[in-house]
Amino acid sequence: MKKLIGLKKFNTAIFISGNGSNLLNLIKYSLKRRSIIRIKAVVSNDLGAKGLEHAKKYRIIKKVFKFKNKIDDENKILRLLKDKNINLICLAGFMKILSKNFIKKFKGKILNIHPSLLPKYKGLNTHFRAIKNREKFSGCTVHLVNAKLDSGQIILQKKIKIYKNDSPNSLAKRILKHEHKIYPKAIEKLTTNL
Ligand code: GRF
Repeated sequence: MKKLIGLKKFNTAIFISGNGSNLLNLIKYSLKRRSIIRIKAVVSNDLGAKGLEHAKKYRIIKKVFKFKNKIDDENKILRLLKDKNINLICLAGFMKILSKNFIKKFKGKILNIHPSLLPKYKGLNTHFRAIKNREKFSGCTVHLVNAKLDSGQIILQKKIKIYKNDSPNSLAKRILKHEHKIYPKAIEKLTTNL
């Protein structure tokens, strides 16, 4: 693996599909002097993703790839990433599954945030399933992306209590606040270990 430690800041691309609250949080983090990342591109598979507005506001290059032809679009994204000299990718609510080939090109340099205590509750509807199974705790996890869904090495995790009166919505909201805390920390942890 290429040593990244010598770099002052990691040129980072954030991939989104929706609201982009994690994107906004990472943008704000990136603007701090002690931040280890510089956000150089935002990629979305959805033109209507609300998060794209954050990219616009902060004048970050944003590109939409609809993934109708996954291989073509991934190749276009790879060209964009090369062009922008990207050395870290953060998935933040990105709803497409990247191919093995794509992941191989950024091995150990793609992070994802997932709203559960992985390895529990991979995939969708995590909060609903955790409440239905009467779990006492849920949480969020930042992990490296490998070829299997939500299965790469865990970098950081935060455990959160599920209250008796929690709905999937209330739990999601509470967990999201902690997502915003752990994602920058996980980035710092990963980049100092590289
Ligand atoms: C977050 O809960 C994240 O963990 C999951 O998708 C959601 C994205 O939220 N992967 P946002 O778009 O960052 O607000």
